[in-house]
Amino acid sequence: MKKILIAGNWKMNKTFVEAGELAEKMKGRLGDITQIDIVICPAFPALSAVYEKIGDTHIRLGAQDVFWEEEGAYTGEVSALMLRESGCKYVIIGHSERRIHSGETDEMVNKKVKKAIEWNLTPIMCVGEKLEERERNKTENVVRRQLEGGLEGLSSENLLKIVIAYEPVWAIGTGKTATPHQANEVHKFIRQLLTNISSEKISQQMRILYGGSVKPDNISALIEEEDIDGALVGGASLVDESFIGIVERCIK
Ligand code: PGA
Repeated sequence: MKKILIAGNWKMNKTFVEAGELAEKMKGRLGDITQIDIVICPAFPALSAVYEKIGDTHIRLGAQDVFWEEEGAYTGEVSALMLRESGCKYVIIGHSERRIHSGETDEMVNKKVKKAIEWNLTPIMCVGEKLEERERNKTENVVRRQLEGGLEGLSSENLLKIVIAYEPVWAIGTGKTATPHQANEVHKFIRQLLTNISSEKISQQMRILYGGSVKPDNISALIEEEDIDGALVGGASLVDESFIGIVERCIK
């Protein structure tokens, strides 16, 4: 069985000061946990504040995006080296909110994933369909396009350095979770696609997280499913008790 990974995506929440306070609380309760992998992903300006608190614990730091070039005239962008120096080990790439609000394409996602790997950052690459796509039975087409596009040109060895997050857009921040069965169906489909791209041996080792309204009271049923290896948590990662609750249920 793979080690469970729980990642908190703080999105555009928590200032430098607030982020430091929340990280301090999480450090106290989660800092020594080694049975599962824990990652928190604050906004860029708060990375150093959070790293200062968790740097010497088992909690890992992640960013919410990275740019595919290393330096230069790219106003507003942040490089992989900058993230590494801020203490990051992980980076979320291709989140649906970036695809929707910033026009991120599969090609851009692919370039970002490659750059992250080059700098030893573990990409958490997100895929997932919108409500109308699910209703038109397009879930598999959309997920296939995003997965194959985002992973194009990667060797099997590099695939092992990636985490996939399946996040149905209709379940993000809406309180509607995919049922564990619905989620697992798509996870199984993703694992099959990964097998096709590489091999069964590789796909079985890769972690596929679920994201979309994950909370302490639904995490247990989700991770009981065969192909769900953890969660990418938005709203519930902003409150210490709920994020800690999710982690604690995974340990049980
Ligand atoms: P949510 O967000 O848990 O608030 O639904 C998940 C995500 O967008 O990663």
